[in-house]
Formats: sequence, structure tokens, C-alpha cells
Amino acid sequence: MTKQLYTERRFMRRIEKAWAFIESLVNRFAKSDFNPLYHLGTLTIFMLVVLIATGAYLTIIYRPGLDVAYATVEKIDSNWFGSLMRSVHRYASDAMILLTILHLVKMFVSDKFWGQRWLAWTSGWIMLAVTWLVGTMGYWLVWDQRAQWMTEYMMETLAGTSGLTYVAPDIASRTFSNFVIILFLHVFLPLIGFLGIYIHGLRLSRARWWSPRWVSVQAVVGLVVLSLIKPTQSFAPADLSTLIESVPMDAYYLGFLPLIDKMGNVIFWGLAIFIGGSLFLLPWLASGRDLGPALVTDAKCTGCVLCYAECPYDAIRMVQRDDDSGYQKLAVINAAQCTGCGICVGACPTNAIELKGGYNSEQTFNAVRGAARREVKEGRTVTVVFASQRALALGGLPDSLLNPPLPMGEGVGVRAAVSGEKAAVAVAGWGGDEAARVVTAVLPSVGAVNIEWIKSLLNGEGARDVVILSHPYDDALNREDAHWILNRLHLRPALVTTGLHWLEVTPGDARTVAKFLDDLHNDHAQSKKTAPVLPPVKGRDKLVPSLVSALVGTVLLLGLFALALPLDVKAGMSAAENSALRVAVDTRGKVQLANIPEGVTLPEGADPEKIFGGGHYPMSVRVLVDGATILDETYKPSGISGNGRISVLEFLEIEPGVHQVEVWVKDDANDYRLSYLGNVNFERGRVVVLAYEETKDAFVVRP
Ligand code: HEM
Ligand code: SF4
Ligand code: SF4
Repeated sequence: MTKQLYTERRFMRRIEKAWAFIESLVNRFAKSDFNPLYHLGTLTIFMLVVLIATGAYLTIIYRPGLDVAYATVEKIDSNWFGSLMRSVHRYASDAMILLTILHLVKMFVSDKFWGQRWLAWTSGWIMLAVTWLVGTMGYWLVWDQRAQWMTEYMMETLAGTSGLTYVAPDIASRTFSNFVIILFLHVFLPLIGFLGIYIHGLRLSRARWWSPRWVSVQAVVGLVVLSLIKPTQSFAPADLSTLIESVPMDAYYLGFLPLIDKMGNVIFWGLAIFIGGSLFLLPWLASGRDLGPALVTDAKCTGCVLCYAECPYDAIRMVQRDDDSGYQKLAVINAAQCTGCGICVGACPTNAIELKGGYNSEQTFNAVRGAARREVKEGRTVTVVFASQRALALGGLPDSLLNPPLPMGEGVGVRAAVSGEKAAVAVAGWGGDEAARVVTAVLPSVGAVNIEWIKSLLNGEGARDVVILSHPYDDALNREDAHWILNRLHLRPALVTTGLHWLEVTPGDARTVAKFLDDLHNDHAQSKKTAPVLPPVKGRDKLVPSLVSALVGTVLLLGLFALALPLDVKAGMSAAENSALRVAVDTRGKVQLANIPEGVTLPEGADPEKIFGGGHYPMSVRVLVDGATILDETYKPSGISGNGRISVLEFLEIEPGVHQVEVWVKDDANDYRLSYLGNVNFERGRVVVLAYEETKDAFVVRP
């Protein structure tokens, strides 16, 4: 199947249009620089910074250890500053997941996940997984009921020696190292996150890592307000002898526990691996096709480095030239990094670059100029609109501009490639005025506009207006589309004459475009001249938002962060309605007599294992409750030579009440022997531990 172009992936574009509509609602009040939806990636990094700052404070007071952790968290909470730090830390961690997911969705809907972006896409997923892991560790450190559920899950899933430490009588000292390891990872992994972020941006030039300062301020205000409205709290301290009936579980990080409780490990992890794996591999499963790579005609290249300076994807190198061209440098494209954005094509003063996938600026401009010339010759006034393929694909160009397009000459490379069945250069009437024509040219991006065209159209061909239809500065399909054309215009102020117009609309907003053209038409009818207003390029970060803009941005972020509240879903262990029996064995096992050579009698007290080494017997355990068998398993010694420890941790649900419990054991050549018999009171919501004690060679009920 041939891969489709951005414009041809209609289904994706429909979703992108819906997303752009949401962004446009915010745009009405908060311009691009202050609209948080345009800064999701950088806001995620900012959340990481907030987490490190607040986390540093928490680490100073926190002490690891089963007997002290909970108390030190309470100490943090005991004054307003500590409580605020803790709450901001918690809400920022939720915000980090949410913002990453929104950033991911934005990348997905705008088709930014395949081609050269595979590295950003896959590293992004890894960062998301690591963020989740770090957050779950954070909840564990508090050692309240949420940590208890995690520990319960770990005990049931991993069992073995790591699980057994939590049923040992000296649990506090045995688990101390776990606290230290988890604290270390919780603090250390986020620092590694910066390496992930570095890899994430490896294929970008001038990656922007910092959210605009006012957006960052909005985020901090959002976090603080939320923390004051609903400070975060600990729940009852962890107690592994109870089952959790109900505790709020932060769905972002801990939602997996109630889900696994209902679905089971196999279904949950099976689905998670299948869905997560498919999304991770999406760059290869659902790849599209772009107009690239760029192609340099060596003979036309003067080595001016403009394309090299402007490429947003670090896909151009300038190499030394030793041919007879007379120029010292030559632009060379790294096809694997090129997205076919066309910015270099717009930058090149000698038309030395075209896009191999179907865009040639000379041909496109010839088509535009030809159309303008024809119409001017007929005595009509001409407005030229330069729009991007994104505007076209999202329905941002009024139909009346494109339909019916006048027949085009052959050889307009962009025609089929950019716009599917629609012509990339179309001529239409406007405003019911027979004497007015709008020539619309669809380019890969507005960054592909060559500024020489503007001079040529306005001065040479007699076009009345040139409109550059752009999208919000921070909503670029190719990161810097608007930036570079604006930069070129700012560097050539002589071109910014009354005939030039800069129109910034949310992609897909055809109505505003139509209104703009209507107004332009009417202005001319009334002989009004509209002075061009170009947005700034440099120092955008320093722009100060209006009060409304700042409020809207803050309320939006506060609303997004506050999703953490309904997502703090109360859940309980399904076993909590019953009672449970934990069967624990941690023993070296008994040495198999077969290892002792025949006829050898050992002196009394000698340890046959030390003398002969060798394998151990497995241990078979049968547990009967009121005469019914509820466990009948054989556990082999670990280790390659079969002489390692036998580690068992079983979790069995029991109906509440007093029951007779029998444990039968077979751990040598003899038959099963009764190891425990007694009446046990199983209280609802509580766990009874039945552990094998090596010194007694019998099972005992642990208090
Ligand atoms: C901790 C998580 C993440 C952080 C901090 C982060 C941050 C960023 C930032 C700041 C950028 C913009 C760089 C720039 O244009 O100058 C970016 C770009 C990008 N991110 Fe993320 N990101 C994260 C997770 C993800 C995830 C989960 C995905 C998708 C699975 C993703 C996919 C992308 C892609 C494809 C780009 C390139 C955009 C382009 O080519 O224009 N990111 N990321
Ligand atoms: S088309 Fe875009 S990504 Fe490719 S080399 Fe040119 S500027 Fe760079
Ligand atoms: S902009 Fe054109 S002339 Fe200048 S280095 Fe690039 S390809 Fe060569």
C-alpha cells in the first residue's frame, strides 16, 4: 500500500481539526504565547523542575524506614509550608503525566510520530513510563495504605525472598534497604530524565526546552491554588495484617492496582503490553509520507548557509567545496532527518533546493505569477494568498477560494503532491466583484514563502495584496514555520509595505480567513489602506499577557491539574470482604539422602550438606481448612544445582469465622506429616500469617 501524505490522511486530519478547535477556544482569550495548549512539552519539563525543587525540600525531612517513614511524612505535613510543598509535589507529578499525555496526543493528531520523529516518539514513551515508575515509588515512600497495596501486590506477584521480607518477624530492619533503594531511585531517576530529554531533542535544531515565563507562572499559580483548596494527605499507616477496604488511589499512578485486582495480572499486563507496544511502534505501523527529502542542485548552491541556519530539524550540513564553482561551501541534506517542511526551500535565494516528494518553488511561483499576470492583464485586481498544506488539510481555506479552481498548466509539481485532488494554485473571484481575483497558493508550510516573491508580485506583477496566512506562532507543524518567514520579513523591512498582510488564524478556521478577505475587499472599495502589522520574532517570551489572557491560561491549567481530584478514585481490595491466609516458607530444605554415599555413617551432629553438598528435597505443602484442601503445592529449591532456599508466599482468601486449619508437609523421603493443627479466628479484612519456622521444623501462626 502506498503511504499517504499529510493532506491525504483524512481521518487523522479530522481529529486534528477537532483538537485545533479546542485550542482555538483558548486562543480567543489567550494568544499563542500564553495558551498553555501550545506549550505542553515544555510545561512537562517545567513540572519536572517543580518536582525536583519541592522534592529536594521533602528529602531533607523525610527518613526512610518502615518504622519512621510515615511519621516523617506527618511531620512534613505539620506546618503550612511543608504541607504546601508536599501538595505541590503531588499535584505536579499528576500534572506531569497529564501534560505528557496531552503533548503525546497533540503529536499524534498532527502526524508527528513517524519518519525522522521516531526517535522523539519512542524516547517520549520511555520517559512517560519512567515518570510513572518514579511516581509510584513516591507513593510507596509514604508508607500509608496506598504503599501497603503496592507492597501486597509486590508480595503476591514476586513472592520469593523479596516478598518474604515483609512477613519476617524483624520486618523493619529487613525492609530498611528497600526504603533506601526506592528513595534513591525516586530521587535519581528524574535526574536521568534530563538525559532522556536530551535524546528527545537530538533531531531538532534549537530545541526549546523552557515554557514561556508567563505560562510557567500560570502553572505555578494553578498548582498552589489547587494545593490550598485540597491539600494532599496520607491515609492510615500501612499494616500488612489488614486488607484495604477503601482508599483513594491516584488513577494516574496507582490505577493499575485496582484494575489488576479486578482483571488479573495476565489480562491487565497482556493488554498494557499489547496497547503500549503498538503505540510505541506506531512510527512503523502507521507511517505516512512527506514531501521530503530536500534536494540541493549543487550547481545552483552558493554556500550562503541560509538553509543551514533555518532548518528546524538539523538536517543540513555545510561541507567544504573544492569543485570549480568558485564557492567555498555546499549544502548537503541528511535525508534521514528531513521532514520535508520546505523551510529551506523558502530560505534559498537561488532556488537551489526542491523537495523530492513533490515541491518545486520555481514552478509554484511561476504558476502564481502566471495567474496574477493573466488577471492583471484582464484589468482585475489581484490578491495572492500564501497558505500552508495544514491550512488546506484542516479546512482552513474557504471553499470559494478553491472551487472551482481554474485549469492549471502542466508541470506544477506541488499540484498533486500537496493537495491531493485539489490544485495547489487556485484562482477565484471574491466579494461578488467581477473585477477582483484571489490567487491562492498552497505550500508545504508558510516558511516556504520566498520573500523575493512578495517584492516581485507587489511591484513587478501588479498584485494589489499579498496575504501570508499563518498559524499561531507556537502551533507550527514544523516547529518554526512562522518564525522563519517572520524573521526574513523583519530583516527586510522594505518589503513590509501596505500591500503585505500577515494573518494568523487557528488552522481550520476558514471563517476568519473569509472575513479577513471580505474586510480587505471592503477597505479597498472605500479606498482605505491597511498598514501591515507583523508580530515580533525575538523576545516573545518577554511579552506580558493581558489580565484576561493570564486569567484564562491560569484557570485552564488549574482545571487540568484539578482532574487529579476526581481521578483520586476510592478503591479497595476485592479480598477485603473476606479474610486471608498468608502461607510463608523460607527454608534451606533438607539434604537428599541420595547424596550421601552408601555405607557411610556420619558422626553425630555432622551436617551432611556441609560434607557432601548436593541437592535438597522439594517441600510439598497441603493446607486444609475445615477439612477442605485449599492449597496443595510442591516447591522446589531454587538454584541451578537445586540446593538454594525454598521461598514460598501464598495468599489464600478465607471466609471470615473460626476455622480448623491443618497443614501437612512432606520435605524428605517420608510421607506427609502434620505440621500444624489448630482453630484460627479469621476476622473480616484481616490477614493471618502461617509461617514455617526452621528451628521448630513446623508451621506456626504469627501474631
Ligand atoms: C517527559 C515527557 C516529555 C517531555 C518533557 C517532552 C518534551 C518535549 C518538548 C519540549 C518538545 C519540543 C521541542 C521543540 O520543538 O523545540 C518535544 C517534542 C516532541 N515530543 Fe515530547 N516530551 C515528552 C514526552 C513525549 C511523548 C510521550 C511523546 C510521544 C510518544 C513525545 C513526542 C514528541 C515529538 C514527536 C516531538 C517532536 C515534535 C516536532 O517534530 O515538531 N514526547 N517534546
Ligand atoms: S525540508 Fe525542512 S527538514 Fe528538510 S532540510 Fe529543508 S528545512 Fe530541513
Ligand atoms: S540556501 Fe541555497 S544557496 Fe544557500 S547554502 Fe542553502 S542551498 Fe546553497
